[in-house]
Amino acid sequence: MRDLDLFSSWIYEYFMPDKRKAVFLDRDGTIMQDSGYLNSPDQVEFFDDTIAVLYQLQSEYELFIVTNQSGVGKGLITAEGVEKVNGYIDDYLRRSGIIIREWFVCTHTTEDNCECKKPKPYFLNLAAEKYGIDLSQSWVIGDHPHDISFADNGGAKGLYVLTGHGAKHLSELPHDVPVFHNLSSAAERILGRKTDGSKTDAPNFCSIEDGAAQLRKGGLTAFPTETVYGLGADVFNPEAVAGIFQLKGRPLFNPLIAHISGINMLEKLIKSISPTAEKLINAFWPGPLTLVFEKKDNVPDIVTGGNPTVAVRMPDHPMALELIRRADSPIAAPSANAFGKTSPTTALHVVEQLGVDGYKIIDGGACRVGVESTVLSLVHETPVLLRPGGLSVERIEEITGPVEHVTEPQLKNLESPGLLASHYSPHTPFILKNGEPEPNPEPATGLMLFCESSIYSAGPVEILSPAGSTSEAAVNLYAAMRRLDKMDLERIIAYRLPERGLGKAVNDRISKASVPAPNMTPAEEE
Ligand code: TXA
Ligand code: MG
Repeated sequence: MRDLDLFSSWIYEYFMPDKRKAVFLDRDGTIMQDSGYLNSPDQVEFFDDTIAVLYQLQSEYELFIVTNQSGVGKGLITAEGVEKVNGYIDDYLRRSGIIIREWFVCTHTTEDNCECKKPKPYFLNLAAEKYGIDLSQSWVIGDHPHDISFADNGGAKGLYVLTGHGAKHLSELPHDVPVFHNLSSAAERILGRKTDGSKTDAPNFCSIEDGAAQLRKGGLTAFPTETVYGLGADVFNPEAVAGIFQLKGRPLFNPLIAHISGINMLEKLIKSISPTAEKLINAFWPGPLTLVFEKKDNVPDIVTGGNPTVAVRMPDHPMALELIRRADSPIAAPSANAFGKTSPTTALHVVEQLGVDGYKIIDGGACRVGVESTVLSLVHETPVLLRPGGLSVERIEEITGPVEHVTEPQLKNLESPGLLASHYSPHTPFILKNGEPEPNPEPATGLMLFCESSIYSAGPVEILSPAGSTSEAAVNLYAAMRRLDKMDLERIIAYRLPERGLGKAVNDRISKASVPAPNMTPAEEE
């Protein structure tokens, strides 16, 4: 053990009469890989950022390591082995210019009922007494909820990292605990600056809980997934989903993927799960595979592009899963890029494209996969590949047998195109007109108007937003189109919306409604 002797603690008291601040670091999973019970130094593997981060932290904080090595109490490793590993780490850090003021090691099991595991945070108090540490200005960083309760009990602040076992235990964590994807981002919170010295945090970066609260109240939150960042809204809040299109500046309403955190959420979205779907889900979820199913009626049109189908995926990212869990609803999300730009794989890419207003961002570092999910339709007998992506077709075919590869023009010719096509298309010809609505002279003509109008119409009329809100119009668009389409009319005349807000998107959607979509695959449209 490398504890300082009484002499040096006296020196501290003498030269540093002011209370000092400390960071207490967990060992396994926080400053290094958690590889089980370590008995030998050659198993030590630091995280890439460990040395740089500790070096910066120690410029303002005393550093302590608090580690639980219950493997000793369980007889799985020896006290000497632990001592050797800790000695090696301490020497390594020392040679890198980092001084660990003292190591606190608990080698007991829970049953031992030891001093160190008492609810009273024994080690924190020890450090406070011995080195004059002010715990209220100190931090504990750890990858287990215990580390956080330990901080709480001692009056210090706990920061939770998703490295090590952090991802596994995230759902046990109280909602007000700040969660970080690695040691660097936790240290950035402590120091109030970026540890790589370059970038500054965008003002809209937020915690998982703030992101979830934003979604619960109908706002937008960008979040990391293993593929790319998504820009999310509550699936069951069509106004919120309309906000996604507005923020992205999409000229067309592409159907969105509903992101779920558990199978119970799938049941809220789709009618039934086929045996093939079940096999694919078991094999690849959570992961970069999006599956298209027949939807339940309560899934809003604006999510599905008016289709009778819905695309669903369970992302393989602890922050995304926790966000969805806390939002307590599936999250509709396209990639968080501005229209026509490449998909963002860091939180800063999102800010570069979408700015900082109108939504929040959860920073989860760089995305592991880096390309979008593979989209596979399960609506017909044979699965159909709609977009190649992060999961290879070969791996899918190992489970399903050969899948069909179809292009958009082919999709249009399938027996029930609505089930596979990425956009709802009405049968009745749509005509898009400019200017003020005119009374309708022709019989068998439907009218689709933006807002309340005094014109007299003999035929059926749909008003998209009586109050003149373009996002309300977007929300109502598909239902209005469908009602008119079912009336056996010869034509539907739709009047252009003003090109503000979602007006342009609605106009484009209407103009494409009756003509075949241009020669694009769903992936290219994004
Ligand atoms: O990895 C991803 O999939 C990312 C992350 C954020 O999850 N999301 C993403 O979403 O790339 P987006 O909106 O950029 O792409 C969704 C794709 C589009 O190609 C869309 O046409 C297709 O999924 N899609 C969505 N719903 C569909 C449906 N009901 N039928 C057919 N295709 C659908
Ligand atoms: Mg740990």
